[in-house]
Amino acid sequence: MPSTPVEGSLSSALTSEHRRLDELWNETRRTVENDASAERITRLEAFGKELRRHILDEEEILFPRFEERTGTRAGGPTAVMRMEHRQMEALIQELITTLGKGSGPVQVAEQTKVFSSLMDGHDKKEEGMLYPMMDRAFGEVEGPALLAKTSLGRCEA
Ligand SMILES: [Fe+2]
Ligand SMILES: [Fe+2]
Repeated sequence: MPSTPVEGSLSSALTSEHRRLDELWNETRRTVENDASAERITRLEAFGKELRRHILDEEEILFPRFEERTGTRAGGPTAVMRMEHRQMEALIQELITTLGKGSGPVQVAEQTKVFSSLMDGHDKKEEGMLYPMMDRAFGEVEGPALLAKTSLGRCEA
C-alpha cells in the first residue's frame, strides 16, 4: 500500500495528479469501450495528451534533478519509470490504431485492460517508492520550488 504523503509535499501533489488522471482514464475507457462513434478516438487522444503532460513534468523537470541529487540514472528507479512511460504511450497509440481500424470490442477491451494494469502498477511504484524518495532528496524547500516549475505549478499561478 502506498504511504499517505504529507500535505503540501511534492508527493502529495503528484499523487493527486495521478488520481485526476485515473478519473479521466476511467471516463475515457468507458467511452472507448461503449461508444461506437469517432468521439472515442478524440477522447483517447485527449487523455493521451494529459498523460503526456504528466510524463513530461516527471521526465524533464523532476527526474533529472532527482538523478543529479542521488547520482542515479542508468539502472536507477527513474530508468524503470521512463521505460514504463514509453510502454504506456505506445499502448495508447496502439489503441488509437485499433479504434481507427474499427476492430471489435474484444480486442479493444483487451488493450484497455492491459493499459489499466500498466498505469496502475506504475503509479503504485511512484507513489509507494519514488515520490517519497523525491520528497527526501529534495527537502521542503526545493520540492515545492520544483513543483512550481511543472504544469501543476503553472496551472495554479
Ligand atoms: Fe510516471
Ligand atoms: Fe507519475
